[in-house]
Amino acid sequence: MSTDDTAAQQNAAEFAWQNDDVFGRIAARYDQLCDVFSFGIHRLWKRRVARRIANEEWRTLLDGATGTGDIILRVLADASTQGRTVIASDVSTKMLAIAEQRLRSFQDTLSLRLLDAENMPSIPTDSIDAYSISLGLKICNRHLAIQEALRVLTPGGRLIVLEASNIRWKLLHRAYLTYMAVCMPALGWLASGGDASAYSYLLQGVRDFPSAEQFAQELLNHGFEEVEFERLSLGIVAIHSARKPRKRP
Ligand SMILES: C[S@@+](CC[C@H](N)C(=O)[O-])C[C@H]1O[C@@H](n2cnc3c(N)ncnc32)[C@H](O)[C@@H]1O
Repeated sequence: MSTDDTAAQQNAAEFAWQNDDVFGRIAARYDQLCDVFSFGIHRLWKRRVARRIANEEWRTLLDGATGTGDIILRVLADASTQGRTVIASDVSTKMLAIAEQRLRSFQDTLSLRLLDAENMPSIPTDSIDAYSISLGLKICNRHLAIQEALRVLTPGGRLIVLEASNIRWKLLHRAYLTYMAVCMPALGWLASGGDASAYSYLLQGVRDFPSAEQFAQELLNHGFEEVEFERLSLGIVAIHSARKPRKRP
């Protein structure tokens, strides 16, 4: 991957959790805010990606930037994942505390870990069968996070990413971005009691994250293969999947 990328090209939202505990501040309201901003549509996206994750063959799944556990809850509720091991991770202790409460009934197979998706030295190389990250890549340095996913995955292991994407019809995409730019900060300010900062990061992340095709190419450039994507809601978000190359005999 080119090292000439600007900071914004590497980290669409130009967000660094070390400088701003914004997700800690909104953790208690995060799920309701998702409903407000997406008119509830995020539930369809999460259900879809959870089904994709559950349908993959894995014994150990690592979910990065897991937030309040909204997706992992759906993955673990799928009967096919019984007895499989899940590591749900995030950099925000407040988000993880909510995830812990919501996922209490799955504590036998689930562990919650404080991990920076960009650098996870406590996760051994080639140790994870499937790695998922949803709505998190646009707010971190995605190149570092993808490299780290590639490192921890077992050869042949699966990457699944749900992330903001692009509506193929440019005018419609522009109208969507305008709606986001006008409504999101105002709604965010109202819904979060005067703290709209999270949503200015997310807005920038949505605007500057690469298109589905460009992101697929980035995954190939990093060394993944079998890269595929599926657009949801006309392309407002997309699910990308990819495989870490198997070891050649
Ligand atoms: C938009 S939320 C998405 C949460 C969840 N995946 C979902 O879809 O509901 C983004 C999450 O990424 C976390 N995060 C931000 N930077 C991170 C990083 N470098 N490593 C791991 N998590 C990070 C935040 O704390 C937050 O919980």
